Amino acid sequence: MSETSTNVMTVRGLTKSYGATSVLQGVEFSVARGEVHALLGGNGAGKSTMIKIITGAVSKNDGDIRFFDEDGRERSETEGRAKVAVVHQELALLPHLTVAENIALPNHRKGMGLFRRTAAAREAFESLRMIDQGFAATCLHRPVGSLSLHEGQMVEIARALSSGAELILLDEPTANLTALETERLFTVLRKLTGENGLSVVFVSHRMKEIRQIANVCTIIRDGRTVVDRQAINELSDVAIIEKMGQVTASHAVERTRLSAVTFDASSATNTLTIQEQGFKLELRPGTILGVAGAPAGPAMLIDGLTGAARSKRWTVARAGWPDRLQSPRQAARLGAGYITGDRAHKGVLHSLPIIDNVMASRRVVRGAAIAGGSEGAECLDLLKALKVRAASVWDLPNTLSGGTQQKLLIARWLGVPSRLLVLEEPTRGVDIGTKREIYQLIRQMAASGTIIVWWSTENVELLEVCSRVVAFDTEGRCAGVLAQADFSEEKLVTLTGMAA
Ligand SMILES: Nc1ncnc2c1ncn2[C@@H]1O[C@H](COP(=O)(O)OP(=O)(O)OP(=O)(O)O)[C@@H](O)[C@H]1O
Ligand SMILES: [Mg+2]
Repeated sequence: MSETSTNVMTVRGLTKSYGATSVLQGVEFSVARGEVHALLGGNGAGKSTMIKIITGAVSKNDGDIRFFDEDGRERSETEGRAKVAVVHQELALLPHLTVAENIALPNHRKGMGLFRRTAAAREAFESLRMIDQGFAATCLHRPVGSLSLHEGQMVEIARALSSGAELILLDEPTANLTALETERLFTVLRKLTGENGLSVVFVSHRMKEIRQIANVCTIIRDGRTVVDRQAINELSDVAIIEKMGQVTASHAVERTRLSAVTFDASSATNTLTIQEQGFKLELRPGTILGVAGAPAGPAMLIDGLTGAARSKRWTVARAGWPDRLQSPRQAARLGAGYITGDRAHKGVLHSLPIIDNVMASRRVVRGAAIAGGSEGAECLDLLKALKVRAASVWDLPNTLSGGTQQKLLIARWLGVPSRLLVLEEPTRGVDIGTKREIYQLIRQMAASGTIIVWWSTENVELLEVCSRVVAFDTEGRCAGVLAQADFSEEKLVTLTGMAA
C-alpha cells in the first residue's frame, strides 16, 4: 500500500539511541484515517519507544513526525499531538483520583467547574459503558488505587476512547483483558473507525486478535521497518513471524540447567489437593492445571495457593503443609513459587539491577544473598535461554522492553526446584516466538515434578499446554473442570460465561 493523502500521521526516518544502544534506526510508519493498523515486532523491536516519541514522552534523535487534518493539510506538531490519545503498555493512572476523574484528566485543560465535573462523570460513564456496563455502574466514584489491574486497563482504554482524539495508540491494551472484554473493545473500535473515521494503532502479541481487528500492518525489527503498510490478509502467520525475525518451526529450546527433581507421581504424599464447596481437585506432580475465566475467581484460588490472603473458599492440602497457608513466606519455604500477573507493581524490582531481579527467588530458596562469582554466569545462562539481550546484568530493568521485563519474572523461577509453581499470565506481553519456548520450559518443569497452576486469559495457550483446565464464571464461581479429552475453546467460553 502506498502513502495516501488520507494519512493522519506519517513517521519518516525516525532514529533513537540510548547511549551506545541504537533502538530505532530510521523507522518508516504511516497511519491512514479510519484504519486499525497493527504495529508488530518482537520484544525489544522498538514499538513502545516509537509510540512514546510520537506522543512526546520520549525525545527522538532524528526523523520526522507529521500530522494531517481531514483535508490532508499538515498540522503543527502541538496541534497534531492534541489529537492523539495513548494507552501505554504500563498503566498510567493517578491512584488517588476516582475513575471518573482519571477519565476526565485529558479534559482538565478545559477547566473543571461543577457543571463540567458532572458532565465529565457522565462522559466517563458512557465511555466505560461501551466496554462493560456493570463495571461502569459501580466504579465511577471509586479511587483508581482500589481497582484491579484489569479494571485499571479498562479505565485507561475508556479515557482514550472518550478523549475525542483522532488517532489512538494502543500499546498492548488487551494484555489485561478477558476474551469478552476484548471482544467488546473491538466492537467499539470497529464502530469508531467506521463511523467517525478514528484511526487506531494496535500493538499486540496475540495473533488471533491482530487478525480480528486490524486491516493493515507495519512490522519493525531491530529498530527498522521491514514491512511498511501491508494488508494483513496478504500475510500468513508464518510470514509475519518470520518477518519479525522469529523462528516458527518447533525447535529445541536451549536448555537451562533445570534440576531433575525425581518424584513419584502416584505417591499420595506428593499430591496437592485443592477444594472449595463441591469441588475437589487432586493435583499430582507433573500436572499442569490451567485456570480460565475473569480474574475474580482465579485470584481467590491463587491467593489460597500462595498464602497471599487467607482464602475462606479454598483449602489447599498437601502432606506436611498446614490446612491453610498463612503467608507468602510460608508458601515459599514449603516450595511454592509464584509469578505475579501485576508485573509493574508486584513483579519487577525497579530499583535493583537485572541480576537481582533474576536471582531473587534462587537466593530465597537457597538462603544465600551473596552474589557469588557463579551467580553472574547463572544469570547470563537464564537470560540466554529466554533470548534476553541486555547490555549488562547490572542495568536497571526499565532499560528493557515490557515483554523483556516479563521474561525476568519467568527467569526467576526457571529451574528452581519447586513443588508448586503458580503462574498468573506468565506470557503477558511476550512475543510469539518466545511464548513457544516458555511453554516448552513450563512443560520441562512439570516433567521434573513441579505442579503447575496457570491462570491465563488466553484460552488457546491453556488448551495447548495444560493437562486439565478449571473454569471460573464471571461471578467468580467454579464452573467446571475440563479434562484433556474435552478441550475446546467453545466449551471454555461457555463455562466461563465469556460469550459476547
Ligand atoms: N531507557 C532506556 N534505556 C536504554 N535502553 C532502552 C530504554 N528504553 C528502551 N530501551 C531499549 O530499547 C529497545 C526497544 O524497546 P521497546 O520498549 O520500544 O520495545 P517493544 O517493541 O515495545 O517491545 P515489547 O514487545 O517487549 O514491549 C529495547 O532493546 C530496550 O532495551
Ligand atoms: Mg513495548
